[in-house]
Amino acid sequence: MKTSGDMGKNRTGVRMSPKEAKAMEEAAANIHPPPGDESKIAEVRESYHARAIPVGSVPPPGSVKGMAKAAASAVTGKKASVLLDKMGERMAFERTGVRLYEALITKLASAGEVDSIGLTEEALRKIQDDELRHMQIVAEAIEEMGADPTAETPCADVAGVQAKGILQVLTDPRTTLAQGLSAILTAELVDNASWEMLVDLARDFGNDEAANAFEDARRQEEEHVRLVRGWLEALTRQESLGAPAHAPPPA
Ligand SMILES: [Fe+2]
Repeated sequence: MKTSGDMGKNRTGVRMSPKEAKAMEEAAANIHPPPGDESKIAEVRESYHARAIPVGSVPPPGSVKGMAKAAASAVTGKKASVLLDKMGERMAFERTGVRLYEALITKLASAGEVDSIGLTEEALRKIQDDELRHMQIVAEAIEEMGADPTAETPCADVAGVQAKGILQVLTDPRTTLAQGLSAILTAELVDNASWEMLVDLARDFGNDEAANAFEDARRQEEEHVRLVRGWLEALTRQESLGAPAHAPPPA
């Protein structure tokens, strides 16, 4: 079994072909590219920005209660759509989190549980359950505001795009358990910061009930970071000491 840290053939480094590397260096020194800098690509991007329409919009609350709450927020100078957008984002992220952990559990099953550091399916299922519950907490808070939790808000859409790379790492059969944990750590760190901001935002809107529920979720997310980071550190240490690998066997 291999790990990402095992020695293998140099397939990407320039030192495999010193002669060609020298020729490339000489060519780079002799070729004079046409005048210009990054400003051209910036101009193209700016022109696209100027014409682009936003990534969706937040639908208005579909109920009388929701309309009344939105109107009450507007009176205090606050746009309920901003809170709904960010709640939609958190909901999308937690939903993706359930799938991320499902992929990690599959990876763990092929690699073999690592009881010595507490990395077991049971431990991962517990976190996965938290993610699902957090999604439901936000869905309830959205309903409480009279809005539709099944609507994908703009920030929810963007969160889905952000998570694509993480999901790709976790579902790639070649990646090791440690690499999967590293991808999950990225998600958990973002999740922690985002819950903190959502708690503050809900309080700004005077929605203390939701803020308190979000605060509970934030505390659990803090624990997720601690666990995932601890597993990743322990696995990396084990690998550096030549301990059993936790990667899928070669096909
Ligand atoms: Fe989490």
